[in-house]
Amino acid sequence: MFEKLQKKWKVNGLQLALILCTFAIGGSATGFVGKKIMNVLQIQQDWLWAVVYILLITIIWPMAVLIVSIPFGQFRFFTNYIRKLGSKLGLVKAPAAPEVSEPVHIALFASGSGSNAQKIIDRFRNNPVVKVVLVVCNNPKAGVLEIARKEQIPVLIIEKERFLHGDAYLHELIEKRTDLIVLAGFLWKIPPTMINAYRDHIINIHPALLPKYGGQGMYGQRVHQAVIDNKEKESGITIHYVDEVYDNGKIIFRASCAVRENDTAVSLSQRVQALEHEHYPRVIETLINQFQ
Ligand code: GAR
Repeated sequence: MFEKLQKKWKVNGLQLALILCTFAIGGSATGFVGKKIMNVLQIQQDWLWAVVYILLITIIWPMAVLIVSIPFGQFRFFTNYIRKLGSKLGLVKAPAAPEVSEPVHIALFASGSGSNAQKIIDRFRNNPVVKVVLVVCNNPKAGVLEIARKEQIPVLIIEKERFLHGDAYLHELIEKRTDLIVLAGFLWKIPPTMINAYRDHIINIHPALLPKYGGQGMYGQRVHQAVIDNKEKESGITIHYVDEVYDNGKIIFRASCAVRENDTAVSLSQRVQALEHEHYPRVIETLINQFQ
């Protein structure tokens, strides 16, 4: 049921929880205030009491949820929700032009040179439906920071303790209204707090054909060296959802390439990276189209 609501309202798990809290508190507040007013009015006839009470809560409820939605950061959701409800009930005029929906906001997590990040930014630069709103990085010397600066994308440099054992910087991600987290060469494990908040909305690219050559410590050239050492005939890329276990989430897409006799980790990595650049931005776009 919760997943259906998430899809219907196009929100992540955390946002859904905040929306449901707003409904619950706003609804209770409406009942409380409504009863207080009814006590003051002292209406004797049951039927009249019921009519006035229904009228009252119809007026109070939108105001109550809007007020409650502010501290929960859901004001934008509830203004739209109430406007749509009002137009369905014929109480407010439906917008003359079709509503322009908000673009899907991507936060790019990267620790390295950022070549994948650059390809993703390029793909969505003039796209009204998708916007890269944040580059999150754990390494103050990473090349991806120069890309973000050049592209004028805000940067968030994260610190290990707070990321892994604190609030995982959820506040900053929510502030940017992040819908999708895209890992592009990000080397820290994603903590459970973040996975729970963004379940099925965090994806990763791995430079090998998972489930082989994944897991802790398997990144960059180490992966390619292991593939060569094991005399594999093919390698490739895997794009997958991120769950609590390293390189384990449901696979979204894989593409393969040959491993040649004379390959080194460097030559193989170049072939694999070409596959990453070709497919990752496209797969992200396909995924986002399915959200809509
Ligand atoms: C990419 O090849 C990506 O697959 C890999 O890091 C590289 C980042 O390159 N990720 C992992 O190994 C994760 N386990 P980039 O900074 O040039 O995009």
